[in-house]
Amino acid sequence: MRPLIAGNWKMNGLTGFSAALARAIREGAPPVAAFCDLLVCPPATQLAAVGAILAGSAVALGAQNCHQEPDGAHTGDISASMLRDAGATAVILGHSERRANHGETDELVREKVLAAVAAGLLPIVCVGETDEQRRSGRETETVGWQLSGSLPQGFTGVVSYEPVWAIGTGRACEPPQVEAMHGFIRQELMRQFGREAGAAIRLLYGGSVKAHNARSLLSVPEVNGALIGGAALNADEFLAIARAAAPR
Ligand code: PGA
Repeated sequence: MRPLIAGNWKMNGLTGFSAALARAIREGAPPVAAFCDLLVCPPATQLAAVGAILAGSAVALGAQNCHQEPDGAHTGDISASMLRDAGATAVILGHSERRANHGETDELVREKVLAAVAAGLLPIVCVGETDEQRRSGRETETVGWQLSGSLPQGFTGVVSYEPVWAIGTGRACEPPQVEAMHGFIRQELMRQFGREAGAAIRLLYGGSVKAHNARSLLSVPEVNGALIGGAALNADEFLAIARAAAPR
């Protein structure tokens, strides 16, 4: 499966920084775009400007969240079609920071996935256990519930496994743990959506992916790419991670 290397800029990037980062990624993209798909997800205020810089390049544009309704009285929210209108082709949904800080439930994430698909966006759905859930041996159970609750029937988007304890901590999940979880998720996807459809869903790993550990994480079976936070704010580091996705 062709890998997807996606950068989640989170709440980082004013105009000058975002433009410089997007330009540097666009310029460095061609060699890696030969073997992987590249995606950057800036904050909503920068979508249009970053989209203009990336236009015609191999780097796709994504957003970090959307509202579940198509329009209406939702002050401060942004609909999936607004993101599409601003140039996005993908959207991250159910990130653990949104689940934890904005009380997003599996059911709400599923509604958002449906809204994204209806607007023509590729949904990238995040799942992952907390430190406490892993310590008590409930990591697969937790992720299993998130998958069955967050993914609607006929789901054909991307799933990203992001253990909460590995995000922004510099403590990436060890390859054997990633392999066990991705194997479990693949089985679950095939159970939920059928063998063929479940096998075709791209499965990313996220959580402290850096240039130095990218190759070992990206070589794990059933890892089809990475969702990158902190390291995506540096073009050289982001592109180095993408190079680590080269076929071997
Ligand atoms: P991180 O974030 O790479 O900074 O750990 C990953 C994510 O939240 O997607």
